[in-house]
Amino acid sequence: MRFLLSFSLIVVSALAFTADNLENARRGTTPLDQESKPAPMYPVENKDLKRPRAYSMQPPTIPHKIDNYQVDMKANKCLSCHSRVRTGDSQAPMVSVTHYQDRDGNFLAEISPRRYFCEQCHVPQADAKPLVENTFEDVDEIIKRNAAKGDKK
Ligand code: HEC
Ligand code: HEC
Repeated sequence: MRFLLSFSLIVVSALAFTADNLENARRGTTPLDQESKPAPMYPVENKDLKRPRAYSMQPPTIPHKIDNYQVDMKANKCLSCHSRVRTGDSQAPMVSVTHYQDRDGNFLAEISPRRYFCEQCHVPQADAKPLVENTFEDVDEIIKRNAAKGDKK
């Protein structure tokens, strides 16, 4: 029992220690009980220039502003341009066929409920620095490197 108690004390103090010294991409090293100065928000790009996708399944980023575009139970502003029937007037790219599929792969007449809230997956573009470092590599780079090494896999 005594062992258990002292063990849990060690765990608790270890947790407190890490919480105090936690470095967070947004908060920096500001302790949790203090408020950090928020970084300025980057302006949203509105240049109608598509960015290439980092991998083929990536939801494309939004190349235009979406300020005040209502998306709720009553209305979906995005669909007023991007739905199948509206693309003639809007000349916007149609949401792809996956947006008309339920999770079992059945095709639906209307947008699938799981694809209704567009901003769950699509984000506007900003010329912002990544918040956390990452080592992501485009698959093309990996293929090229392996080809150079003579690995035909
Ligand atoms: C007024 C019409 C209009 C509305 C409303 C609209 N879009 Fe668009 N969207 C476009 C057009 C046109 C393009 C083609 C690129 C361009 O001109 O910006 C586009 C491009 C996109 C793309 C890029 C597709 C690709 O293949 O790279 C995404 C993603 C997108 N919009 C998402 C949205 C979302 C999410 C909303 C709602 C928050 C929205 N759009 C509202 C007209 C619209
Ligand atoms: C659950 C995530 C998710 C939601 C919600 C979602 N999308 Fe997508 N969207 C994707 C993914 C992933 C792709 C790329 C692969 C694909 O087509 O499925 C995509 C592709 C697109 C494209 C490009 C189509 C093409 O043929 O190149 C457009 C435009 C788009 N989405 C618009 C929208 C709009 C408008 C909404 C809201 C009505 C929406 N999406 C909701 C994940 C999502």
